This record gives sequence, C-alpha cells and structure tokens, in this order.
Amino acid sequence: MAQSLDLIREEALKKISDCKNTDEINEVRNTYLSKKSELMSLMSTLGSLTPDERKEFGMKLNQTKSQISEALNAKQEELATVELNKKLASEEIDISLPGRNFSRGGKNPFYIIEDEITDIFLGMGFSVASGPEIETDLFNFELLNIPKDHPARDMQDTFYINDNTLLRTHTSPVQAHTMQESKGEPIRIICPGKTYRRDDDDATHSHQFAQIEGLVIDKGINIGHLKATLELFAKKMFGEKREIRLRSSYFPFTEPSVEVDITCANCGGKGCSMCKGTGYIEILGGGMVHPNVLKMNGYDPEVYSGFAFGIGIERVAILRYGIDDIRKFYQNDVRFIEQFKKA
Ligand code: PHE
Repeated sequence: MAQSLDLIREEALKKISDCKNTDEINEVRNTYLSKKSELMSLMSTLGSLTPDERKEFGMKLNQTKSQISEALNAKQEELATVELNKKLASEEIDISLPGRNFSRGGKNPFYIIEDEITDIFLGMGFSVASGPEIETDLFNFELLNIPKDHPARDMQDTFYINDNTLLRTHTSPVQAHTMQESKGEPIRIICPGKTYRRDDDDATHSHQFAQIEGLVIDKGINIGHLKATLELFAKKMFGEKREIRLRSSYFPFTEPSVEVDITCANCGGKGCSMCKGTGYIEILGGGMVHPNVLKMNGYDPEVYSGFAFGIGIERVAILRYGIDDIRKFYQNDVRFIEQFKKA
C-alpha cells in the first residue's frame, strides 16, 4: 500500500511538471485530490488496518497528499506568472513610437479682434450687454429717433421678416434695450454682435457684418469723455503713436455726431495710397446720445447725458491685419484662418 502511494506521487508529480496552463493544473488537482480520487479512496481503507499500521499509513497518506498539493500550488504560481507575462507582452504599448499628430484649428481673426476690443473696454470698466439679432422696427429705428419716413432708413435697408420685424441693421437697438432695462440708472456697456444690411457682397461690403456698440449714460457726461475713451481704445488697438480726430457727421440718434479717424499706420499721417492721401483712416461712428433717444427710453435729458459709438469689427480686423476682402472672414478657407494660428 505504501508502495502504491509512492507510485501515485511519482505519477502526479510528473503530470504536474508537464502542465502547460492553469486549466491542466486544475485537471490534475481533480484527478489526485478530489473526493473520488485514488488517494481519497485509500483513506477509506484506514479503518481496516491495525492501529500501528493506521498511524504509519495515515502519516504517509497525508504526506503524499500535501506533497502533491504543494507541487500543484508551486506549478500554478509559475504558470500564472508565465501567463501574465505573456498577456503583458501582447498588450504592450510601444511608448517609443511617435504620437499621432492632429491638426489644431486657428481662431478666425474676426474673433481674435472681437475679444481684443472687448478686453480693452472691460479694462475701462464697461460691461458686456447683448440684444436680439431679429429686431422690431420700434427698437431698430423708432426708439433711435428714426421715424418711418426718415431718409436715414434708406442707408440701412435690411432683411424684413414682416412689416414690423427685421434683421437688425446695427447694434444700436441695444442702446434702447439697455436704457429701458436700466430704468434711469447710469450705464456703461458695450455690445458686440452681428448686424445685417441688404448689400451686394464685394470686397468691402457684406450683407452680414458685426459691430461693437458702446453706450455710457450718467450725469455730466460730455464729448470730452467720448474723445478720451475712443483715443485710449485707438492707442491700445492700433499702437501708442496713433492719433485720432473727430469729424462732424450725422446719425439720427446722436447730436452732435462724429466720425472718428486714426492716423494712417502706413504713412504716419503724411498721406499715402492707403489713406487716399488724407493721412487718416476712418474707424468708427459715434456721438452724444440725442435728447429724444434719452427721453423715449426713460432718461431725463435735463439730468442725464451720454455718448454712444459703433465700431465695425471686420473693419478693425482688416486694418490690423491688412486683409483685402471682407468676405474672407466668412468663407472658412483654412489657408486664410491658419495664418492667424498662434504657435
Ligand atoms: N449705428 C451706427 C451705424 O451703424 C453707428 C453709431 C453707433 C453711431 C452709435 C453713433 C452712435 O452706422
């Protein structure tokens, strides 16, 4: 009987060393250590032995069992390590490979300039307001002192949705919205936004363009405040050396009204082809808020005064970057946009 134990052990150890994976280990474990195994059936013979024989055979039996079990565990551990290493090797990421490059888009210069202008005015204590692009006749015209039969309407023909609703021709309706919402309190806002006019598109005209409106209302505001504000803007936007000049102009919603020019960057004011010999380039329109506009929107012109201005965003971008065609802002040509990509 003790001999058969030796045989069983030899056979089991051999099988264990031949195992190639953990499944095979489990199979061997089943064969030799399960309840139905030969070893276990030998257990049941213990009862028929003398006490001395039982002691000796029992010990041997237990020894055999634990030898097989230890060999199984050792092999299992060895195979598990091999299997893990194999898995790791097959899933290995080659970190020495160069990464996949993906192309990153540039920011449209329109937005670069819009952000820059906004930042300049935020720095002067303005906050950003907004208003609808689809406007009523009331806000786009009437509340800005442009009644139905006013000739100024001809210059701002636009896309009508119906007799009373239209795509705004300028950001100035935001002046009226802000005044009505502010209910007589002082105001200092800018409003960047899209505007529309019925224009035939060419290098300098686009049926869609954008403006930044500015509006300041308080007690004691005068045209000196307007000039100082716009001078600071011009210097921050175009460079310290730029001078501005105000030319008298006309808008129904400001009185007096001005056109603001900056000295030409190309010739420094001497006159060249870029500024058509004048030494100046027009950048925006503005003026003192008309008393009628103040009144219609809830401000007493005897107590409050204010200034307003409208800056063409594309116009500023065209001047800053020397862009030759306004349509380039909207055509999404990557060759154009990529030139403004930051490194
Ligand atoms: N809304 C005017 C335009 O589009 C510009 C402007 C704004 C003029 C504010 C005066 C004051 O031409």
